[in-house]
Amino acid sequence: MLSTVLSGAVVGVDAYPVQVEVDLAMGLPAFNIVGLPEMAVRESKTRVLAAIKNCGYHLPDRRITVNLAPADIRKDGTSFDLSIALGLLGATGDIPAEALNDYLSVGELSLGGDILPVRGTLSLAILAQEQNPAKTLIIPAANLAEAAIAEGLKILPVHNLKDLIEYFRGEKHIEPIYGELSDKDSNIWQGSADLAEVSGQHTAKRAIEVAAAGGHNLLMIGPPGSGKTMLARRIPSVLPPMEFEESIEVTKIYSVAGKLPKDHGLLVNRPFRSPHHTISNVALIGGGSFPHPGEISLAHCGVLFLDELPEFKKQVLEVLRQPLEENRVLISRALMSLEFPAKVMLVAALNPCPCGYATDPRHNCKCSPQQIAMYRARISGPLLDRIDIQVEVPALRYNEMIQQNSAAESSAEIRKRVLAARAVQKDRYKERGILNNAQMGKRELKEFCALDSAGHHLLENVIDRLGMSARAGDRILKLARTIADLDHSENIHLSHLSEAIQYRVLDREF
Ligand SMILES: Nc1ncnc2c1ncn2[C@@H]1O[C@H](COP(=O)(O)OP(=O)(O)OP(=O)(O)O)[C@@H](O)[C@H]1O
Ligand SMILES: [Mg+2]
Repeated sequence: MLSTVLSGAVVGVDAYPVQVEVDLAMGLPAFNIVGLPEMAVRESKTRVLAAIKNCGYHLPDRRITVNLAPADIRKDGTSFDLSIALGLLGATGDIPAEALNDYLSVGELSLGGDILPVRGTLSLAILAQEQNPAKTLIIPAANLAEAAIAEGLKILPVHNLKDLIEYFRGEKHIEPIYGELSDKDSNIWQGSADLAEVSGQHTAKRAIEVAAAGGHNLLMIGPPGSGKTMLARRIPSVLPPMEFEESIEVTKIYSVAGKLPKDHGLLVNRPFRSPHHTISNVALIGGGSFPHPGEISLAHCGVLFLDELPEFKKQVLEVLRQPLEENRVLISRALMSLEFPAKVMLVAALNPCPCGYATDPRHNCKCSPQQIAMYRARISGPLLDRIDIQVEVPALRYNEMIQQNSAAESSAEIRKRVLAARAVQKDRYKERGILNNAQMGKRELKEFCALDSAGHHLLENVIDRLGMSARAGDRILKLARTIADLDHSENIHLSHLSEAIQYRVLDREF
């Protein structure tokens, strides 16, 4: 007797269909799973057999073969348990085998028959919605919120195998749920942190506004306790709201990583990730024997914050270069290659020297010039190269600290200006395949960043007298373009250019 159940698995962040075929044959009792199963899938037979027994059903002593097709892709994880169990019960005739044709199922089984949550349910729901709209998706009840994002999809959330068997036998009713997005309006920032809570630091706040407006990466340098971490954590509050497609992509990544908050549907806030500096390569960019998204992908569409940048291992920072350039992480394995999206705004913070007080006039810095040079050399040039804005965050003075925050601008106000500037860029680049000023290439620089003679003169002075590189010159132009956009100005004026030059602290120092 043969019985077939449709299931699915996830590669990268997308799901593909998997046919679970179960065959019962005469012969010595055995249970084989084929179709390149990894350990967790091979162990599934133990869980499935116990779960069926503990739900009160008896399997005959037969030769059981389970095939997971397509058989040439590696299968991992526990999500096939439920389909294997249903296939077995279909093959024995305990439930009608033909009824299974109308369903797509995923779920992990406990020995007692409880159906436990699995990763990547949203990707599976989208697969079901797009490719098998006629089928009903059976999922663990705990995964309902994320699966219900797939509009119009018929979903059967189940708590345990016994209920499901009785449902198929017509002994019990389970109410199906239809996917619908209740919270489509992603326009509201739901985080609580606001830039208004940060006293003083006007330059840094303005730099954050410029960075957010043009999609620039940002580096903050300052003594301990000046508010760098505090500022960075509030950057998502001034970024534009996520587009619906972005929300789906981000939610998929979190679902695949198993990091979606419990009972949480669509993620609408831009992510903020701040990995500790002891992080490994794999944890940062993703990978592993069965690849998982890394921190850079978890920060997709949001902020990747590297606090205490020089403390990161040099090699870890090096592996960031390619994903930052391509906005995605490519992982190649013997039998597959996959990619995780990784479009992030990189924000980094560091102290000016090992003791932290080199730029603080109120403290004596104890570091020798050599120590300072070694400390800063830990940040590789190529990485620094991808950071358009470098600002100083000085230690706060007492009178700035006690200033009432009511005078400070709220994130919402800053965000309005950011949105306006983004709209200008979207319009300007609509036929160029880029989104913002940070992504401008040489051609766009030439076309959209023309300077008047005073501008040329200033830039010439900066490059020739201060010894800035041509590359730094390009970055200044991009920044000036963003500042002009924030100013609703078609042309780049001297004031825009000189503000942009302020944002190259490291270039000016060295
Ligand atoms: N500008 C500020 N406005 C209000 N509070 C501030 C400000 N700067 C610092 N603080 C207070 O000091 C605490 C420490 O700030 P924060 O952690 O951001 O400093 P930091 O610059 O990241 O220091 P470090 O270099 O040691 O990491 C904050 O949690 C906040 O309470
Ligand atoms: Mg800090």
